[in-house]
This record gives sequence, structure tokens and C-alpha cells, in this order.
Amino acid sequence: MEPDVIKLAPSILAADFARLGKQVAEAERAGADRIHVDVMDGHFVPNLSMGAPIVKSLRRVTSLPLEIHFMVSEPDLFLQEFVEAGSDSFIVHWEANANLHRTVQRIKALGRRASVAINPATPAAVLEEILLDIDQVLVMTVDPGFGHQHFLHTTLPKIRRVRRMIEQGSLACDVEVDGGIDVETAALALAAGANVLVAGTAIFDESEGVAGGMERLRAVSRQLWNEPEQLQ
Ligand code: DX5
Ligand code: ZN
Repeated sequence: MEPDVIKLAPSILAADFARLGKQVAEAERAGADRIHVDVMDGHFVPNLSMGAPIVKSLRRVTSLPLEIHFMVSEPDLFLQEFVEAGSDSFIVHWEANANLHRTVQRIKALGRRASVAINPATPAAVLEEILLDIDQVLVMTVDPGFGHQHFLHTTLPKIRRVRRMIEQGSLACDVEVDGGIDVETAALALAAGANVLVAGTAIFDESEGVAGGMERLRAVSRQLWNEPEQLQ
């Protein structure tokens, strides 16, 4: 994966909400590819986070794509509201939806990018029938619901499987990872075939600041590119 094919998606869950606009602007200046917005309903995951008003405010301060990660039981109920607020793409969970195809088609009909997320205990095989219809797979590398969790190494073979499925189908589908991504785990996930890194703590809780955290993650991908034997 070439370094410029690797995308960074700062997750604002770890940002200081009192300074959210400034921190997002800093991420944009530092070359973020998109902003990852975690939406939780206290039902699909045992936590609450943010809703469409935050997206509406962010839309005014950044031109970066706003990626909505729906950790909610019924994402269809919220699509329209989030589109009107200025969202560019939606990630919905396989585990949250018995009618995934319909939801993906709705997202497409709204003119937005569609991604499907799978939790750590969900096998890659469930993607087989939906892969053709989506723009991105999100392999969760922690159970969703909270920031600051430890990366689950058991997800690495699954990242490899997802990348293989995409290559076998010659599909233009991104593979994103989310949860516990830092310089060490980013290297493992990229080597396994991920090309989009979501990071909250490693970017917003970084002692060297937002730009410093992003540069450390980018350095990992440059290093991997220079040592291709590490790539799967
Ligand atoms: C977790 C969220 C993540 C979270 C990642 O449920 O989906 O996007 O913000 O946070 P870190 O990078 O701190 O693990
Ligand atoms: Zn997320």
C-alpha cells in the first residue's frame, strides 16, 4: 500500500469538546483525510456520544469529509437528519441490521459513501454478499462503544481475509480499522491489509499535539513502504 493511499481518519471521540472546532481545524491542517464521528445510542453499545448538531457545527469549520460511524440499533432512522447536517459517508454495523442491503441502498440513494462495520467476534464471511455494494469495510479492532481500549490482535487474520476477498473480487473497496490504533498496532493493521486508520487517543491525546500524533502514524506507513517485506 503506497503511503499516500493510506488515509488517516481522526476520531473526535477523544477530542476536547470545548475546543472541538480548533482541534478539527488542526487535524485538517495536518493533512487528515476525513473526520470520523462516532454516534452511539446507549442501546447498540453501552454508551452515548453525539448527534447531528455536532455534524452541523463541524460542517461550518471544515471542508474535510465527515464520516459517521453509527453505533446505533436503527441507523435508517437517522440517515436523513445526518445528511442534512452535512455528512459525507456512513458506516453501519452488520450486527445492528437484519436488512443491511436495504440500508446500504438508502445510503447510496442519498448520494453518500456506504461502509459496513464488523465487530471483533463477527467473521469476515458475512461480508461476502454485500461487498460488491459498498465502498469500505470497517474491521473493528475493539468492541465498539468506548475510546482508549486495547487493540485486539485476534482481528489481524480477519483484516487479511477481508483484503483477500477484495483483491479476489478486484473491488475498489477500502479497509478501515478502528480501535486501539497507535504506532505499533497501526503497523500491524497496515501490514495485514488495512488502508484507512481511525485513531482517537493516538491523535487527540498525543503529548506532541494533533499534528504530532498524525505525523507519528504517517511515519509508520512510510516505514512500511520502505520495508515491503513486512507487507502481506
Ligand atoms: C470506538 C469508536 C472509535 C474510538 C477509537 O467504539 O468507534 O472510533 O473513538 O478510539 P481510540 O483510537 O482511542 O481507540
Ligand atoms: Zn469509530
